[in-house]
Amino acid sequence: MNQNALLSIVNLHKTLIGNHILQGIDLTVEQGEIHALMGGNGAGKSTLIKCLSGYWSIDKGSIKVNGDPLQPGAKQIAFVQQDLGLIQSLSVAENICLGVGYQTGALGNIRWREMNAAAADLLASLGHAGIDPRAEIGRLNLVQRTAVAIARATQGLKDGAKLLVLDEPTAALPSTEIGALFETLERLRATGIGMIYVSHHLSEVFRLCDRISVLREGKLISTETTRETSEADIVELMLGRKLQKTIKSPVQKGQETAEQVLSLTGVCGQRTKDINLTICKGEVVGLTGLQGSGCTELAEIIFGAHACQAGQMMLEGQPVVFAHPAEAVLAGIGLVTEDRHGNGSFAEASLGENITATNLNRFFRKGWLNGTAEAAEVDGLVADFNVQPPNGRRRFSSFSGGNQQKAILAKWMRLNPKLLICDQPDVGVDIGSKNAIYAALRNAAANGAAVILISNQHDDLEAICDRVLIMRSGRIVAALSGAEATEHNISLATIGTQAPVGELIQ
Ligand SMILES: Nc1ncnc2c1ncn2[C@@H]1O[C@H](COP(=O)(O)OP(=O)(O)OP(=O)(O)O)[C@@H](O)[C@H]1O
Ligand SMILES: [Mg+2]
Repeated sequence: MNQNALLSIVNLHKTLIGNHILQGIDLTVEQGEIHALMGGNGAGKSTLIKCLSGYWSIDKGSIKVNGDPLQPGAKQIAFVQQDLGLIQSLSVAENICLGVGYQTGALGNIRWREMNAAAADLLASLGHAGIDPRAEIGRLNLVQRTAVAIARATQGLKDGAKLLVLDEPTAALPSTEIGALFETLERLRATGIGMIYVSHHLSEVFRLCDRISVLREGKLISTETTRETSEADIVELMLGRKLQKTIKSPVQKGQETAEQVLSLTGVCGQRTKDINLTICKGEVVGLTGLQGSGCTELAEIIFGAHACQAGQMMLEGQPVVFAHPAEAVLAGIGLVTEDRHGNGSFAEASLGENITATNLNRFFRKGWLNGTAEAAEVDGLVADFNVQPPNGRRRFSSFSGGNQQKAILAKWMRLNPKLLICDQPDVGVDIGSKNAIYAALRNAAANGAAVILISNQHDDLEAICDRVLIMRSGRIVAALSGAEATEHNISLATIGTQAPVGELIQ
């Protein structure tokens, strides 16, 4: 074991409610090293990181930073937590300063102007000059919130920490933002900062990280040097078996029927312009575009969460206007949002309650089922979606991030919607579960639903979707179907550097 390591973890054990979650972890991070931490949902990555942050005390073992024992409150490590750890009701600048303390003047007054200016500078240096330091966190989108969490962590580094820990920092980032984040991290690495980087994305890890440690069921299975290993080897270490090449051909694509579920003509929102589309029973339609292209807004318009300013929407041939998402839910539309913490879940309720309640249960007379029927139904869904551990009575917040995501999808599937819209449903889920989620979407389509899948993963869109619609600047600019809907063509049409292939819509 290297005594000069920036971080050295020796024989760490942690038990939570009687479960031995981390079992004898040994891990070192050197100066100027980006060290990936990988493993399936529930493997223990976030728990290990919470031991480093002092959120959990450890049962056994030692953690040393630069040779010194980890001390609570000593700010030896800077963090970007999986759920970002921001306080919704505080401003951007207040959140950034939380870790390091507010700047005060001679009279003890808080120096707001300086604080806001410093926050703005920091964000600008990360390529986010557009974020207002006085804005409340709750009003920012996920990309902006991630930027604030990263700014806060780098602020901690300025304060002397030499180790930065990032738990799935790119989970909410579109591919265009990832490059900028990596540049920032590479710059930090060049200054000797060491990092732990948690991610489910092999391609990112292989591009960025120097070494990769793999956790499985609470044990550190292996630490590999990136240059000397392969993606297939890492997957095998994570799963304990070889992955069949399921991502490319997860399930049989369905037969398109002519029965229209949704049709939009000339629909406009704040940013979306003149949207025309129809989706039929049994279809999975992909929707993709760069950040800000309008995919999420379009989903929200269909779901009644965003005003439809012009045009017409028809559901099963009937004109509809939804003033509120509750009306869309009653009409048979489901939306799995990209932000599971914001509008997808109740952290303190049990997982089962999260599955059987919709957000909008006050609009349902019988929103809560009777106890036993409910428990049986939850057990079934927990098994179908491979939620781990399979115990619906546990508090939602005690499940790992990827398992929470699976439960939210189960909640919406359970309502058997006519139209199911999934906005990045694979965020934070591991490779095995991602295939299960996609199979569930195909299955819903096979049972007669129409499915819209919003995703930035063009290879997945190719594998799953019957058709893929590409949005740019609020408009649908291309539609690719059948053999045309390849990863390559989807990427070209998304970036828009070449004439989109396939049918041009406008
Ligand atoms: N507060 C808690 N109480 C009890 N058990 C917990 C708690 N938090 C996590 N666990 C359990 O610890 C195990 C590891 O969870 P953890 O969140 O560390 O996984 P992870 O590797 O980060 O997964 P993911 O990729 O889904 O984020 C899981 O079995 C989880 O259910
Ligand atoms: Mg986690």
